[in-house]
Amino acid sequence: MRIKNLIIFGTRPEAIKMAPLVKEFLKHSDRFETKVCITAQHREMLDQVLSFFEIIPDFDLNLMKPNQNLYTLTSDIIVNLKPVIESFKPDYVFVHGDTTTTMAASIASFYSGAKICHVEAGLRTFNMKSPFPEEMNRTVTGAVADIHFSPTKTSQQNLINENKNQDKIAVTGNTVIDALLYSVDKVNSNNFIDDEVDSLKSILEIDKRLILVTGHRRENHGQGFINICNALKRIAIENNDVQIIYPVHLNPNVQKPVYDLLGDVKNIKLIAPLSYPAFVWLMSKSYIIITDSGGVQEEAPSLGKPVLVMRDTTERPEAVEAGTVILVGTNSDKIVFEANNLLNNKEIYTLTSKLHNPYGDGTSCKKIVEFISNL
Ligand code: UD1
Ligand code: UDP
Repeated sequence: MRIKNLIIFGTRPEAIKMAPLVKEFLKHSDRFETKVCITAQHREMLDQVLSFFEIIPDFDLNLMKPNQNLYTLTSDIIVNLKPVIESFKPDYVFVHGDTTTTMAASIASFYSGAKICHVEAGLRTFNMKSPFPEEMNRTVTGAVADIHFSPTKTSQQNLINENKNQDKIAVTGNTVIDALLYSVDKVNSNNFIDDEVDSLKSILEIDKRLILVTGHRRENHGQGFINICNALKRIAIENNDVQIIYPVHLNPNVQKPVYDLLGDVKNIKLIAPLSYPAFVWLMSKSYIIITDSGGVQEEAPSLGKPVLVMRDTTERPEAVEAGTVILVGTNSDKIVFEANNLLNNKEIYTLTSKLHNPYGDGTSCKKIVEFISNL
């Protein structure tokens, strides 16, 4: 009898980080029957990833609603997963990270009695309000999970401190590096043709240093985004030799302030969210990255790019300790100060752009499949 796996995800970052795991399990179809269920908490941004990694979901709950709220999203996921889990009857359910899909899918799976495997387990800021609601989501998921795949020793230790069974925690690195390396290879291959990369080439000003920006965190909505936009405007105005490119997240709470405040600044280009290979290509061309994203904090050190993180806390201390990630919060003055510091001080820039891989070497998915195979 083959082991039945159900891999559930819903948003762009979960899809990027679960895609290589889906592919790895599918390579071992003699031992595993693996099905993919998407909640589609995100729609367009999720579909971009599925199309690049050529994944066709077995179940698509199609749940995204414009400007959705946490209450209905959570209950819709739990209610709509019931028939999927009851019909497929998985032995193992794999969830990833800390989104509402992660937490709600864990609860639904817990009700069904399936064993829950948490990928990217044990990340903590120890502050339930930051990031919100992600710290709660991953803590709840950790509480009901049977097996924890931790990206680093630090995240493993967090789980040990919570008295989780050590035999059920594996340190695997982060699957995002598997996805990143797969994409870098594809993007660099001779036959890679991508319309988005072509149109990026047409807007990139090669005589200018590129600052790449992303942002979406719920706790930054409102005043946080106003501060961020004001800081970006000042950086653009004070540095003529800089071009800022900002693929704007589709959340209306992000779109509105960003387009209102930055829509007409000369050296800032606001563009639609990029497909993963195009974004990886743009990261590789950038001088500095400014972001509040979790995934980008993990990818950038592997590409040797300094990152200013617009958050007060991070659950990813490894790159901060190594000096390639600097926490700047959403204080405009601090963001402008640290950006100018990197732009104007070559020595600091060189120290901050060290290439290193605290989040793995691209073999995380192999390790996860091996761990499950040996149970
Ligand atoms: C979600 C996750 C966050 C994760 C982020 C990754 C929660 C509570 N938040 O935040 O942890 O870091 O995804 O990006 O789980 N939208 C679209 N099309 C899309 C995606 C989003 O139009 O493809 C718009 C919709 O109006 C949607 C809104 O964005 O209602 C918010 O989406 P939601 O998933 O609730 O929140 P995010 O801010 O994307
Ligand atoms: N990303 C992408 N296109 C973009 C911006 C980001 O493919 O236009 C990728 C990025 O490389 C990273 C992931 O999306 O792997 C991060 O997603 P996001 O910032 O939305 O979520 P988080 O990681 O903060 O949960």
